[in-house]
Amino acid sequence: MKIDVLTLFPEMFTGVFESSILKQAQEKELVHLNACDFRQYTDNKHLKVDDYPYGGGAGMVLRPQPLFDAVADLQTKTTKKPRVVLLCPQGEPYQQSKAEELSKEDHIVLLCGHYEGYDERIREYLVTDEISIGDYVLTGGEMAAMVVVDSVVRLLPGVLGNDESAKSDSFSTGLLEHPHYTRPADFRGMRVPDVLLSGHHAHIEEWRAKESLKRTWQRRPDLLEKKHLTAEEKKWLLQ
Ligand code: ADE
Repeated sequence: MKIDVLTLFPEMFTGVFESSILKQAQEKELVHLNACDFRQYTDNKHLKVDDYPYGGGAGMVLRPQPLFDAVADLQTKTTKKPRVVLLCPQGEPYQQSKAEELSKEDHIVLLCGHYEGYDERIREYLVTDEISIGDYVLTGGEMAAMVVVDSVVRLLPGVLGNDESAKSDSFSTGLLEHPHYTRPADFRGMRVPDVLLSGHHAHIEEWRAKESLKRTWQRRPDLLEKKHLTAEEKKWLLQ
């Protein structure tokens, strides 16, 4: 998979792309990540990428030309049309299911803006998807793009080790994770639940399933509305 990020601040991605799992995924050649300054594509002699809004008003608007030319150039190197994702507060709320969908693509281009807005023709004719990472306004799309890159890349086969990929499966069940503990069994009087020390595998699995359900019910009851609960799970919730 190839992910290009079109931004005016490519340096923001340096540490993120060169650390931890994203770094390893590139070293294993499972993904190619590229943060590209789209100012280099502008045809304006002063290197401007924005202009005043037609009809007047405050703020500047991103011109279509630099972004259309940047996407066309990035596309010449591949055969298929890439998914072109605009990060913006008006976009579709980002969810794990969208990360899973994007992880099946060969090529994604993420567009980040730092201005009042984009010329609408970018949305209408260039962009295939619009994503918001939450109901708050960031100074630009860069951090949202990092969230999308990270959540997509970790789903690519071979990126995570077995332990971690099992965790991601548990999220995709639609429930929050159960609590975790490590040594010591008694830390300053705070004890690990006895069942986890029992060595009884079936009891441990049942405790984890119950805790996961309980936690989801307490913190994110909305997640349970979308989920089909078994008769046993319903019984646990009523206990
Ligand atoms: N750009 C500014 N705010 C944003 C948000 N909440 N999600 C995605 N992109 C953004």
